[in-house]
Amino acid sequence: MFVKNAWYNAGWDYMVTQGKTSLVARQLAGERVVLYRKPNGELVAMEDRCPHRQAALSLGAKEGDSIRCMYHGMKFGADGHCTEIPGQAQIPARACVRVHPVVERDNWIWVWMGDADKADPALIPFAVGYSDPAWRMKTSQMHVKANYRLEIANLADLSHLAWVHQKSLGGSDAETRARYTTIKPTITTGPRAIRTEYVIRAVPAPQFLRHLFPAEARFDLSFDITHTIPCTWVLHFKAFVADGASEGVPSGALVADTYTCQAVVPNDTDSVEYYFSWGSRADLEFPGLSDLLREVLDVAFLEDAHVLEAQHVRMREKPDHPMVAILHDAGPSRMLRLLDSLLAEEGGSKHAAADARATAEQAVV
Ligand code: FES
Ligand SMILES: [Fe+2]
Repeated sequence: MFVKNAWYNAGWDYMVTQGKTSLVARQLAGERVVLYRKPNGELVAMEDRCPHRQAALSLGAKEGDSIRCMYHGMKFGADGHCTEIPGQAQIPARACVRVHPVVERDNWIWVWMGDADKADPALIPFAVGYSDPAWRMKTSQMHVKANYRLEIANLADLSHLAWVHQKSLGGSDAETRARYTTIKPTITTGPRAIRTEYVIRAVPAPQFLRHLFPAEARFDLSFDITHTIPCTWVLHFKAFVADGASEGVPSGALVADTYTCQAVVPNDTDSVEYYFSWGSRADLEFPGLSDLLREVLDVAFLEDAHVLEAQHVRMREKPDHPMVAILHDAGPSRMLRLLDSLLAEEGGSKHAAADARATAEQAVV
């Protein structure tokens, strides 16, 4: 169901503070996790489940480096070991909580959900943080009631920009639609990620930028996307004044250079947390541009959620309903196959087999 030996995004660093009550509850790949900061600023990621009677430790209290369960008062160190049971001298060896490796990078919090000795920080995907002075990243988040596989499939097929996002990211004019649905990307596959690069030539500005330019202006739009299993999607998007060429690297004036970094994090099989940012390169920013980009994503991801939540309900109702494959399933099939290969590597569970079946149904004919 979920790849365990992977870094899962738990949100932005500012979400966990030194506040007395800053015990942040997350559900990552089906597991409950509580995050808190020690007085020296280091993060702790611990199972959000007291080993006594499964009370939520996120409802507990911070005491220095430790956390105390506020049901019967057991206290646990940052290493998960119980150090105190009020009214009882003897502490059972099994009185400890699982602690997960946790890393802060690019202003994001990453939690490793698998075997701790396999937690390799080199596997954390590239991203641009909001504190990077070279960029003006603005952050946001959203809760979506859909399985994360539907989100992965959505992000792996940008032809939906012409339909789902006709009022925001894409465009409803015939010219834009024709181009978004006939993209021929360059694809590079790695062990945990797929990179997709393409240029859309001589199109009107996307809807969200159109009011900034004359109606007749045409642009070459460059997309460089790295989609990493299980949950990260990073797009380097650039807009150039159309140079009139039909192929090659765009050579017109650069009018926008932006990064959007997105993490789709499965809580469980029925919902995801979506943490995302978008921003302009600092030297190409003009007042309000990066705020506009963030606002556009807030609107666009509601458009996605609207479609995906209804799709999720229907797939829950009829999980074995046959689905017709079309050309645009190529990207989603590729990403879901990669996910399924990692799931199979972790033990070939019956869930992985079921997931693989679902992917096969989406495979391109
Ligand atoms: S449930 Fe936590 S101390 Fe009893
Ligand atoms: Fe979308």
